Amino acid sequence: MAKTAELIIDGKSYKFPIVEGTEGEQGIDISNLLEETGAVTLDFGYKNTGATKSAITFLDGDKGILRYRGYSIEDLAAKSTFLEVSYLLIFGELPTADQLTKFSDDIKNHTMVHEDIKKILDGFPSSSHPMGVLASLFCAQTAFYPESLDPNRSSEGVYLSIVRSLAKMPTFASWAYKNEVGHPVNYPDNSLDYCSRFLKMMFALPAEKYEVDPVVAAALDKLLILHADHEQNCSTSTVRIVGSSKASIYSSISAGINALWGPLHGGANQEVILMLEQIKKDGGDTDKWIAKAKDKNDPFRLMGFGHRVYKNFDPRAKIIKKAADDVLEKLGVNDPTLEIAMKLEEIALKDPYFIERKLYPNVDFYSGIIYRALGIPVDMFTVMFAIGRLPGWIAQWKELRENKEPIGRPRQIYTGQNLRPYVALNKR
Ligand code: CMC
Repeated sequence: MAKTAELIIDGKSYKFPIVEGTEGEQGIDISNLLEETGAVTLDFGYKNTGATKSAITFLDGDKGILRYRGYSIEDLAAKSTFLEVSYLLIFGELPTADQLTKFSDDIKNHTMVHEDIKKILDGFPSSSHPMGVLASLFCAQTAFYPESLDPNRSSEGVYLSIVRSLAKMPTFASWAYKNEVGHPVNYPDNSLDYCSRFLKMMFALPAEKYEVDPVVAAALDKLLILHADHEQNCSTSTVRIVGSSKASIYSSISAGINALWGPLHGGANQEVILMLEQIKKDGGDTDKWIAKAKDKNDPFRLMGFGHRVYKNFDPRAKIIKKAADDVLEKLGVNDPTLEIAMKLEEIALKDPYFIERKLYPNVDFYSGIIYRALGIPVDMFTVMFAIGRLPGWIAQWKELRENKEPIGRPRQIYTGQNLRPYVALNKR
């Protein structure tokens, strides 16, 4: 028999169907709640609200499980590549060799950006944070490809936008960095793979020969896989809600880039390094900083700790911690902030404050340390997260479109003034 949930309001009972996901999660379908009861739900931060049905990513916060299209993150991080994972997320299945070659070639064909994009870039002062520049350049594609604005365009048209998005993202990202340091931009070298191409655009200088270190490219590829999707988080929900108005893929993803920027979301990786630096400068007294994080009157939080969904461990953090050790060893980097990070982790994992609140290191606790070892500057960290998250945003935008989901429009409980007569206060 189909399961239902019963809700009693003022003694009157209402029944709602329970929907079950393929992994057994249950959701109470309240689509008719307002119509039937006149009431809405109130759920700050959507902590208990399922906004959609999705077949892309499964995560179980208690068990520390993360899977893309049914494949475990551990398997994918160990055996796959970022482009293969992108294909999997976007199209639902792993590509055959031919499909992957075509996808990769299609992306290579679109890595150049319109030369006029440089004029837009030139308008940004070098003080611009690269995330703001990236979001702007990404959205500017709507101007260069106006056909992308058509909400009813063909699947070939959508494919072209998907390929352009993935192709141009590393170019935009490296240009955002070049703008910041005031160097001339580099053009994509299509003889290289996705990550190596990005690294060359980031670091090559006009008068010097630049060889991409394969250790660095491989580590970056793994990091991007770990960040590729994370179901209905803040930026992805933003992409879906903007996309639900039938806004173009470029504007929807640009909105996602902006949502990712905040320090409680993708901006945390930058904040982790700044925090570790601050602690080091302050003498490295980790106990003092743990006490600050626990003090309710102190706004300081232990950045890189805690997660809305993972309440036992973040599987990505486990993989990334191991990758950080490997990369630091292979590159011969001795980073004193890593020692501080280890100490913080050790203390926090034993401290009742963190244990009771189920606060564990998240993906960003270690990603910053790797990025730094790879030579990525701190305010590019969130840009790296955006490059990684792009296939997830694309897959979610595509799914929303294919499922013909309605426009996102939450309700509210109004707490303002009741009707009052207008009497001007500015008359003498
Ligand atoms: N340091 C100290 N206390 C914390 C922390 C922290 N990092 N995170 C949560 N708490 C406390 C918080 O003060 C609250 O305590 P109390 O119950 O006494 O009021 C309790 O733990 C629950 O916190 P919350 O803010 O209600 O939890 P949330 O699920 O709304 O927030 C979070 C999740 C990730 C925003 C939060 O843990 C946080 O701010 N962490 C630091 C920022 C960070 O690392 N963000 C990256 C997240 S992973 C990357 C991504 O997917 O975006």
